[in-house]
Amino acid sequence: MDLLDTLRSTGAVRGFTDEPVGDDTVVSILDTARFAPSGGNKQPWRVAVVKDPALRHAMAELMRPVWEEYMGANAVGRRPFAFGRSIDAAPVAVPNALIDEIGTVPVVLAVAANLHDIAIMDGNLDRPPVVGGASIYPFCWSIILAARAHGLGGVMTTFLSRAEVAAAVPLGLPADHALVATIFLGVPTHQNTKLRRNPVDSFATIDRFDGAPLAG
Ligand SMILES: Cc1cc2nc3c(=O)[nH]c(=O)nc-3n(C[C@H](O)[C@H](O)[C@H](O)COP(=O)(O)O)c2cc1C
Repeated sequence: MDLLDTLRSTGAVRGFTDEPVGDDTVVSILDTARFAPSGGNKQPWRVAVVKDPALRHAMAELMRPVWEEYMGANAVGRRPFAFGRSIDAAPVAVPNALIDEIGTVPVVLAVAANLHDIAIMDGNLDRPPVVGGASIYPFCWSIILAARAHGLGGVMTTFLSRAEVAAAVPLGLPADHALVATIFLGVPTHQNTKLRRNPVDSFATIDRFDGAPLAG
């Protein structure tokens, strides 16, 4: 696929056929994703390819309350887990195929990052740090893009990160590592390619963030 087309059309996939994905394909995907950039080229990533049904189930049961918390906030019009917003809404139980059917998802990847290899350049500020994520999420996104080149689709999720302390034990998360994402991959039942995104002039401005919109 043309690179620009791929970048413009790789939507989240949460439904998969039962076609299995071999370890050779997963290795090939990771072998491409490892070329992602990271601060200082520290390559802080670790990946657990989760196959054990009991372990997957344990992950799903940790994700479920987070999902219900998320949906509860959504239901009352709150932005869940956003900076400065409290989640003072009751959880709402809503089906979620990734959680409910985790056992049938062809590939489940738990991605961790070594915190000693990440420069948290905004760690001194009086707000939650975000810059450290820049050394791991390009890798995660490269996994999704590389998967697409293999005819696969997928989605990066972060609900398990909220339950990192509990998930660390069954996953054997190394000390001083953050659980940054759970990535689901497989042959899509449907690949969404018509993505809804805001136009450039809604977020790009000249000189300053309050400057004039950048127009082409
Ligand atoms: C950092 C990050 C976290 C995400 N977490 C979740 C998640 O926990 N569960 C989920 O179903 N999708 C998750 N997604 C997928 C987003 O919902 C998806 O990218 C977004 O809605 C755009 O969907 P589209 O590409 O199909 O238009 C996440 C995506 C990113 C980049």
